Parts: sequence; C-alpha cells; structure tokens
Amino acid sequence: MKKLIAGNWKMNGTLASARTLAQSVAEAIDKNRNILEHAEFLVCPPFVHLHTVKQVFDHMRAPVSLGGQDCALQDDGAYTGDVSAAMLRDAGCSHVILGHSERRKWHTETDDIIQKKGISALKKQLKIIICVGETDEQRSDGSQFDVVGAQLAGSLFSGVSSNGAAADNILIAYEPVWAIGTGKVATPADIGAMHGFIRGKLKEILEDSAGMRILYGGSVKPDNAADIFAVSGVDGMLVGGASLKAQDYIAIAAAA
Ligand code: PGA
Repeated sequence: MKKLIAGNWKMNGTLASARTLAQSVAEAIDKNRNILEHAEFLVCPPFVHLHTVKQVFDHMRAPVSLGGQDCALQDDGAYTGDVSAAMLRDAGCSHVILGHSERRKWHTETDDIIQKKGISALKKQLKIIICVGETDEQRSDGSQFDVVGAQLAGSLFSGVSSNGAAADNILIAYEPVWAIGTGKVATPADIGAMHGFIRGKLKEILEDSAGMRILYGGSVKPDNAADIFAVSGVDGMLVGGASLKAQDYIAIAAAA
C-alpha cells in the first residue's frame, strides 16, 4: 500500500498564500513524479480555502486529494458556524479529519461526538481520519495505551459496513499530543508499539480492519521522516507545520 502524506494546514494562511502553496505543491510533485510510486497526497486547508485550492489542483492536474479539518455531525439546518460532511463532499473533499487533539481541546469534542461525526461523514462517502493520542502527563504516568484504547473504543463503532462504508474508509492518526507542534517526536520504538497496539484494537472493534491505514503525526519533518517511515505499521503521516512549506512536505513524501 502507498503511504499517505496528509497535510493539515490548520488555521493558517490567506487565500493568496493558500493558492501559492497549492501551486508549489503541485509543481513539486510534477518535478518528482517518481514519488507517486510510493506516496499519495492529501491536503486539508481551512474551509474557506478549499475551493481555491481545488481550482489550482484541477487546473494543474495535480494528484492531490482534498480534505476538511472537521465537519458537523448534522447534515444541514440551523447550526451557525458549522460545515457539514455533505458540504465538504460538494466542495470536492474525499476525506475529513475528525477528533484532532486541537478540536478535543479547544472545542471539547468527546469520543461520542467524534463517533457521530464519523457516521455522518461516512454516509456522505467521505473517508474519515480519526486522531487519537495521549498527553504528556498520560505518557509520564504510563496510561498511554489505556487512553488511546478508550479513544478508539469510544469513537469507532462496530458494524461500520452496515452504515454503507467499508472499514478501509476509516484511517487512524496516532498523534501524541505532546509531539504536536512542539518539535518533540515519539521514538521509533514508541511509535511501533503504539501502532501495533492500535492495529490489535482495531481488529477487536471492527469486523474487517485489515485494509485500514494507521498514520503517525506530531512534528514530522524532512529530517525525521525516513526514521518514522521505517517503523513497521506506519502507513502514512499527518503533517502540520511542515506541510505549510511545499519543499518540506514533498521531502517528507520522498522519504516514504
Ligand atoms: P505538527 O502537527 O506536524 O505541526 O506537529 C501535526 C498535526 O497536528 O496534525
């Protein structure tokens, strides 16, 4: 399976800078087309930039998928400020990130909310990337596996196929909270242990989890990407800061 290089642009940039970044990503992929043999690309810009970024990728025929950074759990209606899964689909998205630790922290999203959003997004034929990960404190007290296990059990659901979606429409991103935007990276041994644990848990929770991808995220940079990709069970990366520089984003993919 190719590695997925997902760029999470978070709440960064202007319309003009998003356009320039999308153009630079498209150009860099075009110049390094051999990376497409082992890497697939997805970028998740802020909602208001989706249309512009899509126009750039369509125009430049760039092989880059689009994703939202969150979606509402309802389909439509009086939910001021929210964006539904159907709207993301309509805007050209194939994916949506759910339960990012920043959503859990700043919007107090719970596993239950994430589960409902996931069901809603899968029904609209979006692939979902569910983020899980422990805080610094939880890793220090040794509860990281309990925490991630509970997040998976709470946000996933059995009988996914009965919601019209195969399990491989669900991706998991293991993102230790203490590694996000901090420059601290989990060690290959810790990443391997957690990815193995997640794989086991998915088998317990879902009927058919074999094709599911498990990504790593948290301070991935060009200089640590190769070591992380070398860890067995890492099917891709969710990249924040480094995805805002086309050169770094593509260098990470080149390490896949
Ligand atoms: P980072 O963010 O690469 O800037 O650490 C990763 C993420 O939050 O998805």
